[in-house]
Amino acid sequence: MTEPFDTVDEYRTAISQIRDAAAAYYSGPDLAMDDADYDTLMARVAATEDRHPDWKAEDSPTEVVAAGGGVVGDVVHSEPMLSLDNVFDEDTLRKWAARLERLLGRPAAAYTVEPKIDGLAIAARYEDGKLVQVATRGDGRAGEDVTGQARRAAGLPEQLTEPVTIEVRGEVFMTDADFDVANGMRTATGEPPFAHPRSAAAGTLRAQDRTYDAPLSFLAYGVRGLGDGPHSAAMAELARLGVSSTDGMAVCASVDDILAAVHALNAGRGALGYGIDGAVIKADQPADRELAGSSSRAPRWGIAYKFPADTRTTRLKAIEVQVGRTGVITPVAVLEPVQISGVIVTSATLHNFDDLVRRNVRPGDTVFVRRAGDVIPEITGAKLDERPPGSEPFEPPARCPRCDGEIDRTQKRWRCTRGRACGAREALAYYAARDSMDIEGLGGKLIDMVIAAGLVTDPADLYDLQVPTLAAFDRMGEVSATKLVNAIQASKTQPLARVLTGLGVRMTGRSMSRRLAAHFGTMDALLSASVADLQEVEGVGPERAVTIAAELVDLQPVIARLVSRGVNMTEPNFRPRPATSTSAPTSTSTDGSGDASDGVGDAGADGEPPAPLPLQREDGTPMTVVVTGSVPGLTRNEGNEAVERLGGRSSGSVSKKTDLVVVGEGAGSKATKAEELGIRIMPAEEFAELLRTTSA
Ligand code: IVH
Repeated sequence: MTEPFDTVDEYRTAISQIRDAAAAYYSGPDLAMDDADYDTLMARVAATEDRHPDWKAEDSPTEVVAAGGGVVGDVVHSEPMLSLDNVFDEDTLRKWAARLERLLGRPAAAYTVEPKIDGLAIAARYEDGKLVQVATRGDGRAGEDVTGQARRAAGLPEQLTEPVTIEVRGEVFMTDADFDVANGMRTATGEPPFAHPRSAAAGTLRAQDRTYDAPLSFLAYGVRGLGDGPHSAAMAELARLGVSSTDGMAVCASVDDILAAVHALNAGRGALGYGIDGAVIKADQPADRELAGSSSRAPRWGIAYKFPADTRTTRLKAIEVQVGRTGVITPVAVLEPVQISGVIVTSATLHNFDDLVRRNVRPGDTVFVRRAGDVIPEITGAKLDERPPGSEPFEPPARCPRCDGEIDRTQKRWRCTRGRACGAREALAYYAARDSMDIEGLGGKLIDMVIAAGLVTDPADLYDLQVPTLAAFDRMGEVSATKLVNAIQASKTQPLARVLTGLGVRMTGRSMSRRLAAHFGTMDALLSASVADLQEVEGVGPERAVTIAAELVDLQPVIARLVSRGVNMTEPNFRPRPATSTSAPTSTSTDGSGDASDGVGDAGADGEPPAPLPLQREDGTPMTVVVTGSVPGLTRNEGNEAVERLGGRSSGSVSKKTDLVVVGEGAGSKATKAEELGIRIMPAEEFAELLRTTSA
């Protein structure tokens, strides 16, 4: 439950903080408070008003649109531009729907679920198909005229495809890519960069006194003047007229369907390319809306389901310079820990040095950190008004901080001119790690010694190490040296997935390596895959495919050397995928080591489809399997590997799409959820047994 304030003074202070934050929010270019803090403060003000109705200020932010922050202009809206109430969890959403049902005396005919764009509300008037006026929301009653700047927003055309007279309402925002462009332009004129895409959109939209060519985008979520059909149909009609809209949104019949659509939006949020801060749920039918009505602040027929904030503020403790396995040199932000959408973030990328200088971020600054989906957290900008006195701009390194070599600055991403050779220590440690080739006893100190002795520069050299040479090292001795050499030699039989993991192909990790190995089966097949072939692997888009292909070319010499040392380059149990793939290899392995299929069936050479593996469906496609709790004898990574070896696809979360949940000791909510959803459950022991009886 939200804590109310204890004193009227605290309550009033909170209101004035909300006002300041709202003013900054609606007017840009700076932000005073991050959204999560703003929402918490608002909730506490509302809780205080519930407990002490006599304290309530007449112009309380809980009653008015824009909390008094919007700049009021002289364009009076045809009908007030209202705000939306928020919910933050499923329970409160259900309560909202139940309340709406009570108001209507029956469930709403249908609900729509659409993204809540993190931008600025505008009303755009079209007369006879021509855009004539655009105004901001202001205080909800009247807003500022921003016609000039808004004309450039993509998705808000100058001319509609038909000469209709309508008023479109929607959100002006800036895409992530345009945000970079906007900051480039702004800093080129000597102005401080925007801290956040929404401030950039606000600053650009209201910059009427100068020419600002920063790109803007628009998405409509409402329209007046297109008849009295359902909201979903109106949005489709708007799209037909040439205006970007929420057309294509989910139309739902029940709260369960709404929740599924909300979760799908949240899950896909990182890939949108622009910020959304929630989902908006609306009654689709005009009759339902009319019956439900509105308060002075917000409609009762709609609600915002806010997602956990993807942007928070925190203090930038330091900027460190890291050198990656391939010699790429990047600035990394060390942060005061901050929770962003359920994850504690302690570091974030600053992309590259040009970007860092352009964003004008300094150690000691309060910075905005954004974590969108699974993307690595990034710093979007600094709060310049909170910069500590005497802070110094960050000095990019003059030489490679790892080997003191020259830096190649010809690309945006700086690189040590020694490339992979500079990163040998990291590369070897990564190759030997437990989740890669699992070479026990090959730790950081030993790696340093063999590098310093000139014995090893890449993973292939490890296989040439001899017992007497190692035994001569400080604190080694015959016994440990023998053990280590044995461990190194034993790693030659690791499956292809682990070799790939160990090589540290950029833009891949453990699970992508497993997918690549499962798809191509042999290193030869992978090396001859085209960029298009690579994209047949789940999760490989065009950008990743290009990087992987380039990385493999780069790695070819070391791969050849590994092959010559006898390192296995095939995936056990490999069978080519049944459908789509024309390029996947057949059972004929080009490296002569056999196709590792264990006699369960021919891998398709004579046209017969192979018998499915235990975790494959009838049609040969992989089952989606979640392993929760511990499986005897396996680490978490090994559990996931096992799933894939048995033909399945491992996933981290349970949903309706999950086929099977393996439940071991210590399993928690995932097991409960699987039971609730009626998904097949397999005890971990049974899974371990299946693995024993199936694997080669
Ligand atoms: S409907 C009368 N739909 O969120 C209700 N609003 O927090 C009008 N917003 O004022 C709003 N995406 O500026 C609606 N798909 C969407 C939206 C959306 C973003 C903004 C809008 C609104 C604010 C409320």
